[in-house]
Amino acid sequence: MKSATAEGERAGVEDAMADRPQAPAMDLITLPHHVELLSDRWLDEAAKFFREALPMRRQALGGRPFSLSERFTDAPAHLKFPGDAAAWSLRFDGQDVAISRTFDPAADVVLECEYQAALALAQFVGVLVPGGPEAMWREARQMFGADAFRPRGQLADDQARTLVGLFHDHMARRTVENPDLEHRARRMGLTGKIREMEEQGFTVIERAISDEFADEVRAAIKGAVQPQQGVSMNWMLYQGRPFERITLNPMAMTLIDASLGRGAQLASNAAIIRGPGAGLIDIHTDYTDVPEPYPDFAMSGVSVWALEDWTEASGPTWIVPGSHRMRRAPRNGEGLDAGVPVEMPKGSVVFFTQGVWHWQGHRTEPGERVTLHPHFNRGILRSVEQKRPDVQMFARNPPRLGEMMGEDDWFDKMTPTGRDYVRLEHMRQLHAFTNWKMKQIRAPLEVAA
Ligand SMILES: [Fe+2]
Repeated sequence: MKSATAEGERAGVEDAMADRPQAPAMDLITLPHHVELLSDRWLDEAAKFFREALPMRRQALGGRPFSLSERFTDAPAHLKFPGDAAAWSLRFDGQDVAISRTFDPAADVVLECEYQAALALAQFVGVLVPGGPEAMWREARQMFGADAFRPRGQLADDQARTLVGLFHDHMARRTVENPDLEHRARRMGLTGKIREMEEQGFTVIERAISDEFADEVRAAIKGAVQPQQGVSMNWMLYQGRPFERITLNPMAMTLIDASLGRGAQLASNAAIIRGPGAGLIDIHTDYTDVPEPYPDFAMSGVSVWALEDWTEASGPTWIVPGSHRMRRAPRNGEGLDAGVPVEMPKGSVVFFTQGVWHWQGHRTEPGERVTLHPHFNRGILRSVEQKRPDVQMFARNPPRLGEMMGEDDWFDKMTPTGRDYVRLEHMRQLHAFTNWKMKQIRAPLEVAA
């Protein structure tokens, strides 16, 4: 940590601005109250959970033993697992819990999969809520494939199931996303999408969520947007679990990290319902009050979730590919002849960024187009919506939600004793690691892993 002197502060700020192509220091890649899946700190936190939970639950468990074990392959290199494979086991002998790094294929419950896929489960809070486990597995398989997970066995005892469920959620609200952006993007099949986003100013991830989840979000929007509000509503993050879960979608967040850097803030989250007729939003960029020429890095980006199939007739967003390279707004309708409609199936998301030119198309078919628009800004910028921090909302989500709400950076956190140097250093390391990994994504042969 830096000293609180003026000189120390200056050095900290200057270092924070520096672009570091080298592998960064990693001691604060994760905040002290967060953990990376299967790191030593994750296992310590797991042991602490059972130390505290068992005295209250031992009697109810009735001396009946249970065990579970997991093994994950293709973990990111910075975790330094032998062969990049990590395993762990939990065994309750009827009295106490023992946790180890060995894999026990004979455990009552066993899961094998790749590490990045495991993170989709490990960051899901709510496995004891009705429908929770089904939603967790369904969306994880949607992203990683129906055969990505090899679970077997189950816990026969209700009390054991409840304790393990509480444990899962305890860890999930502390478990961070994989900070190795290159590894994460590669394991999700998004490396090409990131390159396309940088080339064209936008990219589409097809079917990032299931049809069932798209229907659930669509119904929630229809239930939340009241007629007196017209056809759109902001602050949708605060309208319930489906909006938290879709905004946290790991594939969309990977594009956001790649475009806007870690610590990007949720600037607004609007739902829009529109019927047939001419588009209501002319060609523009989303860079309100940003002076021209725009910077050569992205300041802002918007995801639009398609909750029905998007065709040209359904009134999709139109985008002028590559127009972000102009680094200015279009003049007098300029660009209209170069736009393309964003066509994508239900459950897909388009992410457009860096001042790319776009507009809302005409809808020539009947019915309504219902969309959700999570809009992010680089973490150094202000937002459109005031944030509504809620301790309960943080407790039912992984740390990624707090990060987009500004919980993990040092802005707006001055205390009587000075700046939040822990968060300053944490975000500085995350930025350095992410910048280094972006260089690998752009030129994998030139920047060694
Ligand atoms: Fe826009």
